[in-house]
Amino acid sequence: MTKDYIWWKDATVYQIWPASYKDSNGDGVGDIPGIISTLDYVKSLGTDVIWLSPMYDSPQDDMGYDISNYEKVYPKYGTLEDMDKLIEGTHKRGMKLILDLVINHTSTEHDWFKQSRSSKTDPKRDWYIWKPARYDAEGNRHPPNNWVSHFSGSAWAYDETTDEYYLHLFAESQPDLNWENEETRKAIYKSALSFWFEKGIDGFRIDTAGMYSKVQSFPDAPIVFPDSEWQPCQKYFQNGPRIHEFHKEMFASVTSKYDTMTVGEVGHSPREDSLKYVSAKEKEMNMMFLFDAVEVGSNPSDRFIYDGYKLTDFKNAVQNQSSFIEGTDAWSTVFYENHDQPRSITRFGNDSTKYRVKSGKLLALLQSTLSGTLYIYQGQEIGMTNLPRSWSIDEYLDINTINYYKEFKAKYGDNKEKMDKLMDNITLLARDHARSPVQWDDSENAGFSTGKPWMRVNDNYKEINVASQVTDPNSLFSFWKQSLKIRKEYKDLLIYGSFKILDKENQKIFTYVKEAAGQRAYIVLNFTSESLKFENLDGGKLELVHSNVNVEDESTLSPYEGRFYLIK
Ligand code: GLC
Ligand code: CA
Repeated sequence: MTKDYIWWKDATVYQIWPASYKDSNGDGVGDIPGIISTLDYVKSLGTDVIWLSPMYDSPQDDMGYDISNYEKVYPKYGTLEDMDKLIEGTHKRGMKLILDLVINHTSTEHDWFKQSRSSKTDPKRDWYIWKPARYDAEGNRHPPNNWVSHFSGSAWAYDETTDEYYLHLFAESQPDLNWENEETRKAIYKSALSFWFEKGIDGFRIDTAGMYSKVQSFPDAPIVFPDSEWQPCQKYFQNGPRIHEFHKEMFASVTSKYDTMTVGEVGHSPREDSLKYVSAKEKEMNMMFLFDAVEVGSNPSDRFIYDGYKLTDFKNAVQNQSSFIEGTDAWSTVFYENHDQPRSITRFGNDSTKYRVKSGKLLALLQSTLSGTLYIYQGQEIGMTNLPRSWSIDEYLDINTINYYKEFKAKYGDNKEKMDKLMDNITLLARDHARSPVQWDDSENAGFSTGKPWMRVNDNYKEINVASQVTDPNSLFSFWKQSLKIRKEYKDLLIYGSFKILDKENQKIFTYVKEAAGQRAYIVLNFTSESLKFENLDGGKLELVHSNVNVEDESTLSPYEGRFYLIK
């Protein structure tokens, strides 16, 4: 494996989702001055890069992923001057700052779209994707095709002004930009990228990076869900015909001019297709997120269709993520949380009082020993958990959850069993779990805000908060900090090394070896609440480096115990 150390390969990235991070002025919404006030904290964890989720001006239908102006800051979050201070404060501490690049779509409130929708002859008409209606034999109007939106319902919205439909693969207020139009692409590069590079940012997390190029015939998608009018249509927009041409153009004309890092959210594709985006020689992006692990057990077209998973499924997911770049010139990522995922302790560990911290440390051991650039999401370092099952659907504010629930209720509202099952799945998988306010201390509103938070604080903030953990050497926070330090100390093995599972069929224990240039590491993780017998599957002499317990009896793995050994 490659030994050319590059800052973004070695980096640990900390993701901040501004609305729920830290409120500085008591209006109940997190903001940029709030972020600035915590930079020392973020640095103290051992973070090298901050990824800030969208802070651009936006009506917030999809929490900022619906941008109305790339060159302005959402007023509740702050101003351009605040962003300058954030960039400066981050750099002063030796960290870097990357932003979210949301350029598959804008908000309907963006000036570009307002002009585009105004008339069929407007010069910006072709900046979005407009199509005439289809009519059935009875003369009823229908959308141009049967594509489903990611947020439920048709992917097309009818616009009366010009009697046509526009495409929105996400919410109705998120119209897709027409990347076929060169003038549009140039405008995107200038407004969304160059503007911020000139201000000194260090790169981008690229939202929905595989979706810009659509199959231009816009055909009906095959029927996968027979009881729905709208069908999954990935194959007509995911890795579309011109996608690599677009990425190459963006890289050559803008990104390559700066010392940056880029990480794409590309979604599900076969390995060969994914590699085309991140192979170094392709000159497109540095790395991408693979969703194998976070989506384990869910239907890839619909996360709320969930059947559970076995530890072996999870191992396969980790294996795929790790072997993805082996033998190539590409680079990979490690992440188990972000703003679109539930909390990892609830999802993959055990969030009971008894095992919450220990299983959180187990997951920290796993992540800090896997190769690739490591991403940590706000609150993950203190082990924030999902929202409780007792909360009603009214506490859920994410457009994805709300639309899904409404559509489901319209179909199955009378079926209590189905509705209960859906609520179970929402309690496990909704994006809202990542979006509750960060728990800073045990004061009112968890120290997130002196006003009423825009979203309810998780009930467990008195037990789980930053203040109680930063000074406690046995806390999850301290364990993460120590694990990140060890990750850097053994970076050849842990960040760059190869990965091999030793117990593929074992449903309770996860054992793997990392290897690099003659050095080997042995990692063993007990994923159950049982005590299990420890067996050395390698046979070499093991020397303990790091563990989430004080290992007294090496022959037994206590519940959720994990160990990292060097093989001598
Ligand atoms: C990405 C973002 C998600 C957003 C969507 C639409 O998947 O991570 O939060 O809803 O794109 O922009
Ligand atoms: Ca605020």
